[in-house]
Amino acid sequence: MSTTTSELEVAHGGVPAGKEHVYSQQPVLSARNIVITFGRVVGLDGVDLDLYPGEVLAVIGDNGAGKSTLIKCLTGAYVPDSGEIKLNGERVSFRRPQDARDAGIETVYQQLAVIPALDIASNLYLGREDRRKGPLGSVLRMLDKKGMEKRAGESVRNLGIQTIQNMGQAVETLSGGQRQAVAVARAAAFGSKVIVLDEPTAALGVKESGMVLDMVKQLRDKGLSVILISHNMPQVWDVADRIHIQRLGGRAGVITPETHDMGEGVAIMTGATKLSEDAP
Ligand SMILES: Nc1ncnc2c1ncn2[C@@H]1O[C@H](COP(=O)(O)OP(=O)(O)OP(=O)(O)O)[C@@H](O)[C@H]1O
Ligand SMILES: [Mg+2]
Repeated sequence: MSTTTSELEVAHGGVPAGKEHVYSQQPVLSARNIVITFGRVVGLDGVDLDLYPGEVLAVIGDNGAGKSTLIKCLTGAYVPDSGEIKLNGERVSFRRPQDARDAGIETVYQQLAVIPALDIASNLYLGREDRRKGPLGSVLRMLDKKGMEKRAGESVRNLGIQTIQNMGQAVETLSGGQRQAVAVARAAAFGSKVIVLDEPTAALGVKESGMVLDMVKQLRDKGLSVILISHNMPQVWDVADRIHIQRLGGRAGVITPETHDMGEGVAIMTGATKLSEDAP
């Protein structure tokens, strides 16, 4: 299948209908020419990415295409060999995930980042526990457990998760979907600009996936920007505003669910259809 110039323009310049105002803004997060190698393995081969305010950008690609590596480079888990990353137009160079968190970017990595033996509230506040007021907190370093449980309950309920009753419940006693919800809730509660979710529904059933996807939509509706990595094409076509297609360590193209159907997206992903970045 050959591509015409107009298809290529749609692929790289096209924006979802009625949302032109969003895409004339400055991206919240943008990456240019990101390169990272692991010894002789090329992880990313000069990748660009743009994430706009209030959009869900899906990232799709085959196993090993560099999706997780890309978001690790964007969120401080890996430091790229070269390339430029900007947050709200300002150059950033995160050295560790905490740097990105401090800047308002929360990430749920593919390897799930909850600690099963801890309760929900502790998981939500991991690494940023609230201390008690006065000398109990400042001198004795005592945690404000009650306050954290209360606020954890609020943030979980804000996301519409009604099934979790007790914030003091250990995460290991939760179902897979509820666990995932805790990880996403944690990101949602603290991410002030960008939420990155690496395959949040991979291990989930239909109902549980639906719950996580609803959360993604709610976050977007609140004005946050979401990067969603997924192998589930129907979910991607359901929730994404734009789709970044990653292939062999590079970006093969950017499409939208309106301009390309799932079959076309998969064809670009596998290399059956080419969308060259250098095309007119
Ligand atoms: N720490 C590392 N050391 C060596 N190679 C790595 C490392 N991290 C990633 N890679 C390599 O980089 C490439 C991209 O991997 P990555 O995990 O980003 O793929 P992916 O697109 O997320 O795949 P999947 O869909 O399976 O999650 C692979 O060839 C992988 O082996
Ligand atoms: Mg991955």
